[in-house]
Amino acid sequence: MDKLYNNTMKYDDLYDKKLEQQLKFINKDEHIVDNMIYCKNCDTQRLWISPNKQIVTRVLCECQSEELEREEIDKELEKVKAYSKLLKDRSKLGKRFYNVTLGKSKETADKLSDSLKTAHEGAETYVNNWDSNLKQGKGFYYWGENGVGKTHLVAGLCNFLIDKYYAKVLFTSTGDILKEIRASFDNPNKTEQQVFNFYVSLDLLVIDDIGKQRFKLKGEDTHAQEKLIEIVEARYKDKKPTGLTSNHSLRQLVDEKGLDKAVAGRIYECSKDFTLEIKSPNIRIMTDEEKWWQKD
Ligand SMILES: Nc1ncnc2c1ncn2[C@@H]1O[C@H](COP(=O)(O)OP(=O)(O)O)[C@@H](O)[C@H]1O
Ligand SMILES: [Mg+2]
Ligand SMILES: [Zn+2]
Repeated sequence: MDKLYNNTMKYDDLYDKKLEQQLKFINKDEHIVDNMIYCKNCDTQRLWISPNKQIVTRVLCECQSEELEREEIDKELEKVKAYSKLLKDRSKLGKRFYNVTLGKSKETADKLSDSLKTAHEGAETYVNNWDSNLKQGKGFYYWGENGVGKTHLVAGLCNFLIDKYYAKVLFTSTGDILKEIRASFDNPNKTEQQVFNFYVSLDLLVIDDIGKQRFKLKGEDTHAQEKLIEIVEARYKDKKPTGLTSNHSLRQLVDEKGLDKAVAGRIYECSKDFTLEIKSPNIRIMTDEEKWWQKD
């Protein structure tokens, strides 16, 4: 039987034994002063003795505790980063717009045109008031011709919300929504209802380039119209923000593309504070020479 716990031993002997046992095993970065083990590095104790001297045990010194804390923080940060990445992957922003930031995008926008500059300022206001916009279900509507920087702007906005607020964002288009719904018909593991619920559950749903699809054909509502009505209506009821970009104004969507007036009304109501026509040069057709911001 271990002598240490031999009950014929006196109390003090037992304490001495325990201490002796601990003092035997000291590491290179430790030294002993008055029967106490200290860390050479931070000079705090690596041994703890209870006031009644019954417990003699090893503990972490200050620098070891700090190291452990740092490791734990790093682990947490890794988790946060992984979560951000997951949100970003799920946002479907795609490679081109994955790393677009509002800040960098605005630097360029400021020099391209007044309305693009105003749009970026609006987007900054939008993200800086995200908590309140989310609560009130406020979205945005940016429209203008091809290549003026609508998608780029909105990508920066989405990335900001994901990085700063871990917002559940989906960047999609009417075409993609229809495709996903159609795909659910052939997928036994996914129902249309599930797809629909997913769209409604998102913090921010962005529908890029609305109006590419017709909303009426020979006087009849198209599939695009039906699905848009369902999704916009459900998000409106749930006070969930929806953001849109388009080549057309809302009025044009109604008058020329047959967008349902009630849906247009909902969109207008929720995005009127952040609606803007962007007038800018077509960045897409600029030559590399003209893209001064790409040169260091
Ligand atoms: N602020 C900006 N800074 C840098 N590049 C931009 C900016 N805005 C747009 N671009 C680039 O210009 C091109 C057209 O912009 P995009 O957002 O796709 O236009 P739109 O959606 O209006 O058709 C894209 O290649 C985009 O990355
Ligand atoms: Mg676009
Ligand atoms: Zn130490």
